Amino acid sequence: MRKTKTILGMLLFAISLMFTACSCPQNDCQQNNLYKASVDYKIVDGVIVLDEPQRAPGQKSMIEFRAKPLETVRVGFVGLGMRGPGAVERFTHIEGVQINGLCDKYAERAERCQGYLDKAGMPKAKIYSGEEGYKQLCESKDIDLVYIATSWQMHVPVALYAMEQGKHVAIEVPSANTVQECWQLVDAAERNQVHCMILENCCYDHFELTTLNMAQAGVFGEIIHAEGAYIHNLEPFWKHYADNWRLEYNAANNGDVYATHGIGPNCQAMNIHRGDKLDYLVAMSTKSVNGTKIVREMMSEKTDTCMHGDQINTLIRTHKGYTIDMQHNVMTPRPYSRMYQLVGTEGFANKYPTQGYTFKLDQLKAVAGNDADAPNIEALDHHSFAPASVVEEMKAKYQHPIQKEIGEKAKLVGGHGGMDFIMDYRLVYCLRNGLPLDMDVYDTAEWSSMGELTRISIENGSKPVKVPDFTRGDWNKVDGLKFYYAE
Ligand SMILES: NC(=O)c1ccc[n+]([C@@H]2O[C@H](COP(=O)([O-])OP(=O)(O)OC[C@H]3O[C@@H](n4cnc5c(N)ncnc54)[C@H](O)[C@@H]3O)[C@@H](O)[C@H]2O)c1
Repeated sequence: MRKTKTILGMLLFAISLMFTACSCPQNDCQQNNLYKASVDYKIVDGVIVLDEPQRAPGQKSMIEFRAKPLETVRVGFVGLGMRGPGAVERFTHIEGVQINGLCDKYAERAERCQGYLDKAGMPKAKIYSGEEGYKQLCESKDIDLVYIATSWQMHVPVALYAMEQGKHVAIEVPSANTVQECWQLVDAAERNQVHCMILENCCYDHFELTTLNMAQAGVFGEIIHAEGAYIHNLEPFWKHYADNWRLEYNAANNGDVYATHGIGPNCQAMNIHRGDKLDYLVAMSTKSVNGTKIVREMMSEKTDTCMHGDQINTLIRTHKGYTIDMQHNVMTPRPYSRMYQLVGTEGFANKYPTQGYTFKLDQLKAVAGNDADAPNIEALDHHSFAPASVVEEMKAKYQHPIQKEIGEKAKLVGGHGGMDFIMDYRLVYCLRNGLPLDMDVYDTAEWSSMGELTRISIENGSKPVKVPDFTRGDWNKVDGLKFYYAE
């Protein structure tokens, strides 16, 4: 039975790969020399609407999906460059984990990670290498979870292969590069009934978790607007990506190709596909100035053009009428920013460049009461952030249960100040307890689809583009985001 299911799965996977070269309506592309999108679309009342495939027979929705609990999570890592080894190290600090596979195209990168296992007193893992070594790892019977931190170009091929072997997958960001790849992830998860989680670590940063908890408690009132960004001058990094995969990707693709840090935490606070959904977006790109210079310096034998604009700006509107503003810039010397901002009818939260909150006075009274020791809330000036004493009190009151449980250990283990560890810890915890994950395959698809959707808008004179409903109508079945705990 399992074998028949696997063969059927592989067949469907192969068929889906045969249809990779879809396009916008032929005439539009030919007339305007437009970018050919990964799926067909129509322009309806001025809005670009992409075709949405029906759910195939045998596939089931993954909303609130629970897999069989795993007493021990047996994990295999694929992609051990700059990012992957840190994950291996973090997993050695999580209870109920066995690290059974280490894979990189380059064997020495995988071998190097055995050191973390030695240090933790864990047995050595099997090493897999070469361009297709991941296939053996995915086929291995002693692996439940494939943790993918390869180049973007390899995320989906590895994830699809793993899911067809019945493995859960966790994929670095962005998990997919095109809308078609997003649908492939959704379909593979639904067909095989396995988890497919985006490794969006920013959802677990301390500020984001506290702020999410405040948002869910209604501290900000109705959240009408959010802002997110990934602004990071990658000049010192470009030459360190294996085989130059990142610059090659940027040289060939415009759009907000790294949108998930910016959009992920905002979608969680705004309950996207848990009562609201992303409706449509418009995007605009600057010309490429620094990008072109870098491409000419590093890739002159291949190309002298860079498709990717130096700065990408995107506006998204949700079905309920709220907005999200996103920025992406990895080309100019701006200070680092992973902007996370919530604008609510009752309050405001802001992460970069300055962390701060403002709250309506009655919210503060509820926290501080009329206690003599309480901060002087009457002295608040609403032209600036709330004073530190008030913020500290609010942060203590609204510390997220996950921070209470694991926050201190996370700071010790580390990974971007601990958020990477909290993310890995929650993944393992939910798998061990058979719980829905904090981020499901629809989050994975929605957040990752921003790359190509913004590109389609940009390449069509910033026309609005409808965001596909990857849940296929189930976006309103769950009322609000929930992080699950064992009873
Ligand atoms: N969430 C975060 O904060 C964060 C931070 C950094 C990077 N990332 C993500 O992590 C991923 C990896 O980035 P990186 O900076 O480590 O890049 P990198 O180039 O240093 O590492 C990628 C690794 O993948 C390996 N690889 C490529 N093809 C492979 C294949 N077929 N089989 C096995 N291994 C293969 C390469 O050899 C390399 O070692 C990217 O998706 C990136 O966006 C996320």
